[in-house]
Amino acid sequence: MPIVVKAVSMEDYEAWIDDRKALKLAALESQNKTLTMDESMAEGEKVYKKQCLMCHQANGEGVPGAFPALAGSEIALKKENTLEHLYRIIYGKN
Ligand code: HEC
Repeated sequence: MPIVVKAVSMEDYEAWIDDRKALKLAALESQNKTLTMDESMAEGEKVYKKQCLMCHQANGEGVPGAFPALAGSEIALKKENTLEHLYRIIYGKN
Protein backbone atom coordinates (compact mmCIF):
# COMPACT_ATOMS: atom_id res chain seq x y z
CA MET A 1 0.00 0.00 0.00
CA PRO A 2 1.49 3.37 -0.97
CA ILE A 3 2.12 5.99 1.69
CA VAL A 4 0.66 9.35 0.64
CA VAL A 5 2.14 12.46 2.23
CA LYS A 6 0.08 15.64 2.01
CA ALA A 7 1.85 18.93 2.72
CA VAL A 8 -0.47 21.50 4.29
CA SER A 9 -0.09 24.92 5.85
CA MET A 10 0.29 25.17 9.61
CA GLU A 11 -3.18 26.73 9.73
CA ASP A 12 -4.78 23.77 7.89
CA TYR A 13 -2.84 21.34 10.07
CA GLU A 14 -4.11 22.98 13.25
CA ALA A 15 -7.69 23.00 11.90
CA TRP A 16 -7.29 19.27 11.16
CA ILE A 17 -5.99 18.63 14.68
CA ASP A 18 -8.95 20.57 16.13
CA ASP A 19 -11.35 18.41 14.07
CA ARG A 20 -9.68 15.24 15.35
CA LYS A 21 -9.93 16.48 18.95
CA ALA A 22 -13.61 17.40 18.50
CA LEU A 23 -14.36 13.93 17.09
CA LYS A 24 -12.53 12.22 19.95
CA LEU A 25 -14.34 14.38 22.51
CA ALA A 26 -17.74 13.66 20.92
CA ALA A 27 -16.97 9.92 21.01
CA LEU A 28 -16.00 10.11 24.70
CA GLU A 29 -19.09 12.16 25.57
CA SER A 30 -21.39 9.71 23.78
CA GLN A 31 -20.04 6.90 26.02
CA ASN A 32 -21.34 8.68 29.11
CA LYS A 33 -24.65 9.67 27.60
CA THR A 34 -27.86 8.23 28.97
CA LEU A 35 -30.04 7.37 26.00
CA THR A 36 -33.76 7.97 25.86
CA MET A 37 -35.94 4.95 25.04
CA ASP A 38 -36.28 6.16 21.42
CA GLU A 39 -32.51 6.54 21.08
CA SER A 40 -31.95 3.10 22.65
CA MET A 41 -34.44 1.54 20.26
CA ALA A 42 -32.73 3.19 17.26
CA GLU A 43 -29.31 1.94 18.44
CA GLY A 44 -30.74 -1.53 19.10
CA GLU A 45 -32.29 -1.66 15.65
CA LYS A 46 -28.91 -0.96 14.06
CA VAL A 47 -27.24 -3.72 16.11
CA TYR A 48 -30.09 -6.15 15.43
CA LYS A 49 -29.93 -5.56 11.66
CA LYS A 50 -26.18 -6.06 11.64
CA GLN A 51 -25.79 -8.92 14.12
CA CYS A 52 -29.06 -10.83 14.59
CA LEU A 53 -31.40 -10.38 11.61
CA MET A 54 -29.70 -12.94 9.38
CA CYS A 55 -30.75 -15.76 11.68
CA HIS A 56 -33.70 -14.46 13.68
CA GLN A 57 -35.16 -12.62 10.62
CA ALA A 58 -36.36 -9.01 10.24
CA ASN A 59 -39.67 -9.69 11.99
CA GLY A 60 -38.04 -11.69 14.83
CA GLU A 61 -39.96 -14.82 13.88
CA GLY A 62 -36.80 -16.84 13.23
CA VAL A 63 -36.73 -19.92 11.01
CA PRO A 64 -38.63 -22.90 12.43
CA GLY A 65 -36.31 -25.82 13.17
CA ALA A 66 -33.18 -23.69 12.84
CA PHE A 67 -33.37 -20.31 14.56
CA PRO A 68 -35.90 -19.72 17.35
CA ALA A 69 -38.26 -16.75 17.26
CA LEU A 70 -37.28 -13.80 19.45
CA ALA A 71 -40.79 -12.36 19.01
CA GLY A 72 -42.67 -13.71 22.01
CA SER A 73 -39.53 -15.34 23.49
CA GLU A 74 -39.49 -15.22 27.29
CA ILE A 75 -35.69 -15.04 27.20
CA ALA A 76 -35.72 -12.04 24.88
CA LEU A 77 -38.63 -10.18 26.47
CA LYS A 78 -38.61 -10.73 30.24
CA LYS A 79 -36.43 -8.38 32.24
CA GLU A 80 -35.59 -11.09 34.79
CA ASN A 81 -34.10 -13.15 31.93
CA THR A 82 -31.62 -10.42 30.88
CA LEU A 83 -28.60 -12.41 32.08
CA GLU A 84 -29.84 -15.56 30.35
CA HIS A 85 -30.36 -13.49 27.18
CA LEU A 86 -26.79 -12.16 27.29
CA TYR A 87 -25.45 -15.64 28.11
CA ARG A 88 -27.22 -17.12 25.05
CA ILE A 89 -25.77 -14.48 22.77
CA ILE A 90 -22.25 -14.94 24.09
CA TYR A 91 -22.14 -18.72 24.72
CA GLY A 92 -25.24 -20.22 23.08
CA LYS A 93 -27.45 -22.82 24.69
CA ASN A 94 -25.83 -25.16 27.23
C1 HEC B 1 -25.75 -17.49 13.27
C2 HEC B 1 -27.15 -17.42 13.63
C3 HEC B 1 -27.54 -16.57 14.82
C4 HEC B 1 -27.27 -15.23 15.03
C5 HEC B 1 -26.49 -14.29 14.11
C6 HEC B 1 -27.91 -14.88 16.28
N1 HEC B 1 -28.53 -15.96 16.81
FE1 HEC B 1 -29.66 -15.98 18.49
N2 HEC B 1 -29.92 -17.99 18.29
C7 HEC B 1 -29.46 -18.76 17.24
C8 HEC B 1 -29.77 -20.15 17.51
C9 HEC B 1 -29.40 -21.35 16.62
C10 HEC B 1 -30.45 -20.18 18.74
C11 HEC B 1 -30.97 -21.43 19.49
C12 HEC B 1 -29.88 -22.05 20.34
C13 HEC B 1 -29.55 -21.22 21.50
O1 HEC B 1 -30.45 -20.80 22.26
O2 HEC B 1 -28.33 -20.98 21.70
C14 HEC B 1 -30.54 -18.80 19.19
C15 HEC B 1 -31.18 -18.41 20.34
C16 HEC B 1 -31.33 -17.13 20.76
C17 HEC B 1 -32.11 -16.73 21.92
C18 HEC B 1 -32.93 -17.63 22.81
C19 HEC B 1 -34.36 -17.63 22.29
C20 HEC B 1 -35.28 -18.58 23.03
O3 HEC B 1 -36.35 -18.11 23.47
O4 HEC B 1 -34.92 -19.76 23.16
C21 HEC B 1 -32.00 -15.37 22.00
C22 HEC B 1 -32.69 -14.47 23.03
C23 HEC B 1 -31.15 -14.93 20.92
N3 HEC B 1 -30.75 -16.03 20.18
C24 HEC B 1 -30.81 -13.64 20.68
C25 HEC B 1 -29.95 -13.24 19.67
C26 HEC B 1 -29.52 -11.86 19.49
C27 HEC B 1 -29.98 -10.67 20.34
C28 HEC B 1 -28.67 -11.86 18.43
C29 HEC B 1 -27.88 -10.68 17.88
C30 HEC B 1 -27.06 -9.95 18.83
C31 HEC B 1 -28.59 -13.23 17.94
N4 HEC B 1 -29.35 -14.02 18.73
C32 HEC B 1 -27.86 -13.61 16.83
C33 HEC B 1 -28.81 -18.30 16.14
C34 HEC B 1 -28.33 -17.02 15.97
